[in-house]
Amino acid sequence: MCGIIGVCSVDRNVAPMISLGLRRLEYRGYDSVGVAIIDERNVQVWKAKGDVDSFLSRFKIDSIAGKTGLGHTRWATHGPPSDVNAHPHMDCRGKIAVVHNGVLRNFVTLRSILELRGHSIVSDTDTELIAHLIEDETQFSSSFFEAFARAVSRLEGSYAIAVVNEEEPHRIYFARMKSPLVIGVGGGFNAVASDIPAIVEYTRRIIVLNDGELGWITPGEVRVFRLTDEGLVEVDREELLSRIFFIEWSVEAASKHGYPYFMMKEIVEQPDSVRSTYEGNVSDPVLKAIASLLATSDNIIVTGAGTSYHAGLVFTYYLANIAGRHSIPLIASEYKILERAVSKRDVVVAISQSGETFDTLEAVRAFKGKGARVVGVTNVVGSALSREADITVYMRAGPEIGVAATKTFTSQIMLLTLISIYTAREAGLLGDSEVEAEIASLAEAPDIVRESIERSIEVINDRELGEHRSAYILGRGLGAHIAKEAALKIKEIAYVHAESYPAGESKHGPIALIDKEFPVYFAATRDSPEITGNIMEMAARGARVVVVKPEDYKLPVGVKEAKIVEMPPTKKDIKLDPYALTPYFQILAYKEAVARGYNPDKPRNLAKTVTVE
Ligand code: G6P
Repeated sequence: MCGIIGVCSVDRNVAPMISLGLRRLEYRGYDSVGVAIIDERNVQVWKAKGDVDSFLSRFKIDSIAGKTGLGHTRWATHGPPSDVNAHPHMDCRGKIAVVHNGVLRNFVTLRSILELRGHSIVSDTDTELIAHLIEDETQFSSSFFEAFARAVSRLEGSYAIAVVNEEEPHRIYFARMKSPLVIGVGGGFNAVASDIPAIVEYTRRIIVLNDGELGWITPGEVRVFRLTDEGLVEVDREELLSRIFFIEWSVEAASKHGYPYFMMKEIVEQPDSVRSTYEGNVSDPVLKAIASLLATSDNIIVTGAGTSYHAGLVFTYYLANIAGRHSIPLIASEYKILERAVSKRDVVVAISQSGETFDTLEAVRAFKGKGARVVGVTNVVGSALSREADITVYMRAGPEIGVAATKTFTSQIMLLTLISIYTAREAGLLGDSEVEAEIASLAEAPDIVRESIERSIEVINDRELGEHRSAYILGRGLGAHIAKEAALKIKEIAYVHAESYPAGESKHGPIALIDKEFPVYFAATRDSPEITGNIMEMAARGARVVVVKPEDYKLPVGVKEAKIVEMPPTKKDIKLDPYALTPYFQILAYKEAVARGYNPDKPRNLAKTVTVE
């Protein structure tokens, strides 16, 4: 959740590189910020509660001299956001500075041991303990690296760590366990970072570290070791070189392009991202391999968190309706409810934009432990999910910076629909020519999404929800899943309590809340004409009803009290309905958030990638 960057350069002052990296990392967490810089003699730390821009200008970070440094953006886990809890944290002597992302499970034990040994701990964080632990271990070690490795071996839980030591002003130590960390291999410098966008402006050559790896960088050297039961084993140079991969996406792809917020940029990008997902995957043999697994497995579990889980719900719908395969949707953090029922004849489809979501990875590990095969669906090459899954397929949607997922949702749907169609062939439900026709029809999706964006921008008011603090977003069939994602967007960024449930349930309880002008939105997909009854029930009770539907889908009876919003036609093809309806709700949430004065890129209490339990 927190963001980390560390740079050591042979001849450049690194503070400006770290500043830019912090701006790129801000989306990971943003309640406090800090920097440590070593000049030739001292390690100095600046840190404060607040956002990156105010921090950088308040301390004039760019003008600080020093060729090695660390930066950190925090999203609080242990201890509230405050100056003292901001990273970097230091040992008692103020010589070792540590930045960390993750959560130490043995935090309480470590803290009491260190206090007993005379360390004075000044913050509430688990991170500070790492600095003291290393300091403590130096007494028993012949080198700083040995002390660092000994300290790391005592940590339990998840961590990505970068450390500087005043006595070695040209070196950064690092370690990774269950939290993302990469190395950027540069010319005249090397870097470590939690995310590639933090360093991609400086280098495109990346090594993704594995769990259990640790080591150091200097301006001219990268050394990586594995912590094994037999001690430290160095990863040999050849292997390390073969792990360097080249980032192809550009810096512009991760910047705003003139839009006020990343979220709007990413909404508008959907025609391109959906096309890229379609074209990049349609003939990929990996899809066929996945389809054959899905067609022959005993059970299929579809898991993920947040928006990715909602894309998973859409997948379960298409798997059933296109491929005749039943699957079980499962919120990743709830994996334990099925863990004992899973066997090696089952397949788990794990969906995660970042590929780093802790809950999703934990579910994957648990199901793998039962012998199930895991299909990873992610946007990030080299992510933990891509490495832990048996087969991985990539969304190819480009980097998504806005905390609220938008373009990656439609790309996930596209990719999962392609998989459903190929599964239908493997299951013997569709012949080759039918598969071809189904695939060809999906090529319409980018145009539909474009038109839906244009229409939505035009028809949605800035304060569409007025002063209301609650709304229902309802659907049936496929529409129920689209509505769920719509409600999440509205909650996440406009802070309006939007509730979503299958529309037929209204009469079993929720309709009790309806009074005059209560906003009720329907995502009406063509599979569920029965929704008309639910629309009428709501309208009859005075609700302010808005029905969003594809233009070529006619409701069986008109409801004159409801406002009907016509989205682009979807050729009477249910596979295309998500592209017509989804942008409407993304833009509604966006406009509502901005009009209420909120920054949609930085919703309170949320982070883009949740790497804690
Ligand atoms: C966080 C984000 C959500 C996202 C979820 C899953 O909660 O705020 O927008 O949907 O994580 O992320 P993933 O990277 O696994 O898709």
